[in-house]
Amino acid sequence: MAKVNLRGLVDLDKTKPRWVEVVLANFDTFLSDHASAEKKASGMALSMASHYPDRPDILIAMTDLAIEELAHYKQVINLILKRGLIPQSDCKDTYVAELNRKARKGRAEFLLDRLLIAALIERRGAERFELVAQHLKDAQLADFYRNLAKSEARHWVLFVNLASSNYPESEIVPRFNELSEIENDILAALPISARLH
Ligand SMILES: [Fe+2]
Ligand SMILES: [Fe+2]
Repeated sequence: MAKVNLRGLVDLDKTKPRWVEVVLANFDTFLSDHASAEKKASGMALSMASHYPDRPDILIAMTDLAIEELAHYKQVINLILKRGLIPQSDCKDTYVAELNRKARKGRAEFLLDRLLIAALIERRGAERFELVAQHLKDAQLADFYRNLAKSEARHWVLFVNLASSNYPESEIVPRFNELSEIENDILAALPISARLH
């Protein structure tokens, strides 16, 4: 698989320290939203597998990813149940919805944008789970979030690599960087809450 040079991709705007404060102060709420986010990530991977059955690289990667994200979901659900809580119903994820609206029409553009938007969502997840891990006092819980951060970091590279096996680097890099700016702006416009986004 051709690999994109990740150094050509712009870095994200770092999450504000206030976000992690709000998350730690409302950790039960955060856990519930986190569970929903893992479940939706699994659903997104399955939907990609369904839309591109003719592309074996995407089909296999998305099937594996759906299983892995569902395993994350189960782990978070177990944490919630161990605390004697009941998971809340899913809320609309404005961040993901707004990003998905930026995908261009047209089969080729749409696939590239979906892969890059998924990469950006995973990259943000990795950044935020790592932040949570750094600030948690409970060492076991911190380890759990650190491992999740590693998984999400692998996922964002996976999506960029899937893009690179289907599109030239000259098309991927500028579009990734453009969507990355959009991602920063969407996040900056959202209120800070005890949610993943
Ligand atoms: Fe995950
Ligand atoms: Fe992920």
